Amino acid sequence: MSNKKQQPESQFTVLPAHVAIVMDGNGRWAKKRLMPRAAGHKAGVGALKYIIESASEAGVKCLTVFAFSSENWNRPEREVSILMDLFVSSIKKYLPELKQAGVSLRFIGDRSVFSEKLSASLLDAESATKDNTFLNLNIAMNYGGRWDIVEAAKNMLLDVESGSVSPANIEETLFSDYLSLADLPAVDLFIRTGGEHRISNFLLWQCAYSELYFTDVLWPDFNGDEFLKALQWFSSRQRRFGRTGEQLEEELQSLQTNEVK
Ligand code: FPP
Repeated sequence: MSNKKQQPESQFTVLPAHVAIVMDGNGRWAKKRLMPRAAGHKAGVGALKYIIESASEAGVKCLTVFAFSSENWNRPEREVSILMDLFVSSIKKYLPELKQAGVSLRFIGDRSVFSEKLSASLLDAESATKDNTFLNLNIAMNYGGRWDIVEAAKNMLLDVESGSVSPANIEETLFSDYLSLADLPAVDLFIRTGGEHRISNFLLWQCAYSELYFTDVLWPDFNGDEFLKALQWFSSRQRRFGRTGEQLEEELQSLQTNEVK
């Protein structure tokens, strides 16, 4: 990971401000190679490293990945424990590089059940990179989109109780201020590897208008080229936000006319 001082010029006409990824397929990748599932997860960390680099190089400013869902506790105890150890060791291994590359790390999800060791490593990574601005990298751990919304509702109600928020003023923008990643743009591009076509309780609110990109490629094989393919696909999408295609064409023409003037 190189130290990027300047934002590179983008090769895409439209770049997503925020990309979210469900990194699925580690287990199947390992099984195909007659390896234990843990080897798939380890390879998955390697893939994540390359995607962080590709995202930085492409000029993406926010990347949020799903490392462990609230439902993943249902996996065999041994796999859960291997994943937790992998989180600690990977953060330790890559933190200096991430820091140097200008990446700001944030972890979202319910941390209350994590071991002291993991909790300390998350805090340490966040504090070491808090002043970085090149890429916002958010890692969701013990996260669920419904949990996020319920937490937001609970915290907003505390403010209602204390009188700092009036129920009459509650609307979408106010509510979204209580969610994880409230300070970041909404997710423009949602990517899921591994062939499943599901959102799986990831960033439900934040993905309300996302373009959804599904690929059969298993996460450890999802490399820089695959990521650029997804960005290319995104750049070809017409994002209407409820308007008609004709309205968008007119807006584009008027923008182009103003540029010429
Ligand atoms: C889903 O594949 C993957 C996970 C539950 C774990 C993802 C974690 C990583 C890639 C490591 C990230 C590391 C850090 C430090 C954030 P799966 O096991 O469900 O695959 P399968 O569907 O083929 O069984």
